[in-house]
Amino acid sequence: MGEKRKTIQFTVLVVDDEKNTREGLRWALEGPDVEVITAANGLEALELLRQYPVDLVITDLRMPELDGMELLKRIRLEMPEIPVIILTGHGSVENAVEAMKDGAVDYLQKPVNIDELMLRVERVRREQRVERENVELRERVQTLYAFENIVGRSAAMQEVFEKIKMVAPTRASVLIYGESGTGKELVANAIHQNSPRRNKPFIKVNCGALPLTLLESELFGHEKGAFTGAVATRRGRFELANGGTLFLDEISETAPEFQVKLLRVLQEGEFERVGGTQTIKVDVRILAATNKRLDQLVKEGKFREDLYYRLKVVEIDLPPLRERPEDIPLLIEHFLEEFSRYYGKPKPKVHPAVITALQNYHWPGNVRQLRNVLEGAFVMSSGEITLKHLPPEIHSQEGRENYIRVPVTASMEEAERLLIQAALAFNRGNRAKTARQLGLGRKTLYRKMAEYGLE
Ligand SMILES: Nc1ncnc2c1ncn2[C@@H]1O[C@H](COP(=O)(O)OP(=O)(O)OP(=O)(O)O)[C@@H](O)[C@H]1O
Ligand SMILES: [Mg+2]
Repeated sequence: MGEKRKTIQFTVLVVDDEKNTREGLRWALEGPDVEVITAANGLEALELLRQYPVDLVITDLRMPELDGMELLKRIRLEMPEIPVIILTGHGSVENAVEAMKDGAVDYLQKPVNIDELMLRVERVRREQRVERENVELRERVQTLYAFENIVGRSAAMQEVFEKIKMVAPTRASVLIYGESGTGKELVANAIHQNSPRRNKPFIKVNCGALPLTLLESELFGHEKGAFTGAVATRRGRFELANGGTLFLDEISETAPEFQVKLLRVLQEGEFERVGGTQTIKVDVRILAATNKRLDQLVKEGKFREDLYYRLKVVEIDLPPLRERPEDIPLLIEHFLEEFSRYYGKPKPKVHPAVITALQNYHWPGNVRQLRNVLEGAFVMSSGEITLKHLPPEIHSQEGRENYIRVPVTASMEEAERLLIQAALAFNRGNRAKTARQLGLGRKTLYRKMAEYGLE
């Protein structure tokens, strides 16, 4: 028995009050990888369903105790993933129709034709296999193309994930470079969360927002009476971050005087509070972000070279969104799922023309702008997001439909998919026109559309 159970891949529960039918079906269905268990009425069936993992229920309609219709309803409610096939008496088509409405996947007339039965069961098994494979695929995609909350399948983003994984466990300083809205703060968070310091503070300072003196007292703290308004001694962010990570955002905006002090903390791990003499020692890991090229600022004499090298032990470059259109479909999914949870509204479909339009836009505000555009579209749409839900600058005609961007790292297949998708949108879904324009036979176009999931 123990040996046999291992190979069983499929369990069918047969429910009928007639012993002959039960045994007949058992005889027909049982095989090396199929197990059949039986029940004489709906109540018995529910008992068994709660104890055994069942893959398919085949049930008669008319039975004492709990009939087939009731059983079907209870299964739909309690175990909606289990398919149910209904057996109906000769000529009772209305019952079958009603059962299908209530969620049966199929029905068979009695007396049961064994060949037909086998066909239906095979179909259920095939559908379950496909569904299982889909779930596996979805999970694989999620782990392959996402890290923490960062989504991306482009080669550039995959490289970013690799770098984060390598550098996070160390205490190396990391300089994160990227245009506005490319995810610099997200990356800083991911590094901290994957470091041994994850349970210690993660403190962020926006260096661009504060004038020099305030920034100094913010970071290093001050002694009582250090300046007008310093009515009490105050600890700075460096002290608060002790043992953890300090994230210096917009580091390019700092003044030279400040850069000297920062360099000293980075090199010696010590500093004095503003107006203080006591030297304070801290253990802080530094992450810095900038949307300006620091090497350029160094050349112009606006940023200290020694500090620059100290900060960029490791450098992570986040590419602008317009250079990785292949990430856009994933980001759309990611954000729509987020909005759906937040607003408690089902996730809408997205018209293919919308995806093309979003992939062709140049995104000066990068991922943040994409997120905002999608949030607006999500709120204004019901069921499906179409071009009319996008701001005019994104779906306006010029340059939109006439060109597509294909990453040079794309495979021929990906390039072909992008071109077919864009051509379909350009021709407003007219397949004959699209085929002609692409120089493809209509059948070939249909086949490729099916292959790439473009229908
Ligand atoms: N790859 C990504 N996957 C998922 N969400 C992202 C990604 N990149 C950015 N975001 C989202 O976009 C928004 C902006 O990201 P973030 O604040 O990290 O950008 P930033 O580079 O720090 O911008 P800024 O230069 O304006 O400070 C956030 O909502 C963030 O969650
Ligand atoms: Mg930021």
